Amino acid sequence: MLFGAKKFCFLIAMQVPPGFTLHILEEAGSTNDICLALADAGAPDGTVVFAHHQTAGKGRQGRKWFSRPGSSLTFSLLLRLSIDELGLLSRFSLLGCSAMVDVLAQYYQLQGLIKWPNDVIVHGKKICGVLMEALWQGRALQAVILGMGVNLARDAYPPDVNLRYPATSIESEVGFAPQPLELLEKLLIMLDQTRKNLVTDDFMHAKNAQLAIRGEWVTLDENTGEPRRVRLLEIDQDGGLWVEAEDGTRSKVYAGELSNGSSSS
Ligand code: BTN
Repeated sequence: MLFGAKKFCFLIAMQVPPGFTLHILEEAGSTNDICLALADAGAPDGTVVFAHHQTAGKGRQGRKWFSRPGSSLTFSLLLRLSIDELGLLSRFSLLGCSAMVDVLAQYYQLQGLIKWPNDVIVHGKKICGVLMEALWQGRALQAVILGMGVNLARDAYPPDVNLRYPATSIESEVGFAPQPLELLEKLLIMLDQTRKNLVTDDFMHAKNAQLAIRGEWVTLDENTGEPRRVRLLEIDQDGGLWVEAEDGTRSKVYAGELSNGSSSS
């Protein structure tokens, strides 16, 4: 048994791209938790944990992530950062969104946009969420875990789930749902390519061109209990988001949630 995962599935319907080691699980609580445990046990860069069914999926800010077997893609990727990459840690939170946007464009002719910090939206609705977690030993970063959840089919999440943000799926947008492992293969190849570009100066320029609701007024909730109205300016080289307040002052934020409404819920 792999860190609490229920069963292995030995049917592999994809080519595993070079540099990746894939663990396919029939059921898991959270693939991020399993990946963190594997990282702690010394698993190498490129370890991937995929679950057909995730029973305790985690979203950002302690929220739950709902998914349905066959209708969702849920996986986590373990990254061991090189010396060059360590100084660019904040850019890694954009890696998953960036790869997803490029896969949507290349294979499904869909224009995805990055909703800072970690969502991908299509036609104003969320199609993918990314949860980045880090494993530290004292002040030394051991590994980064990039967990991604993608809505493939219309029924990716139960209808009674109270969503914070309107959702969509690949099927809703293009009329068919890819198989989870088929999309995983495309995403891993794209993640690998995107990671190579992450260190270049052009990376942030390219990401700003994919930034959703840029220039618009939105509500920013930084978990201070006082959401504020801000205008989205741009993502800085270090991954922070420049915003303008209603009094014209500008500041850079590194964490928070954006919404269109006047409150944070
Ligand atoms: C969010 O939008 O709040 C982030 C959602 C991230 C969900 C994925 S699904 C695979 C991985 N395992 C988890 O427990 N969460 C991430």
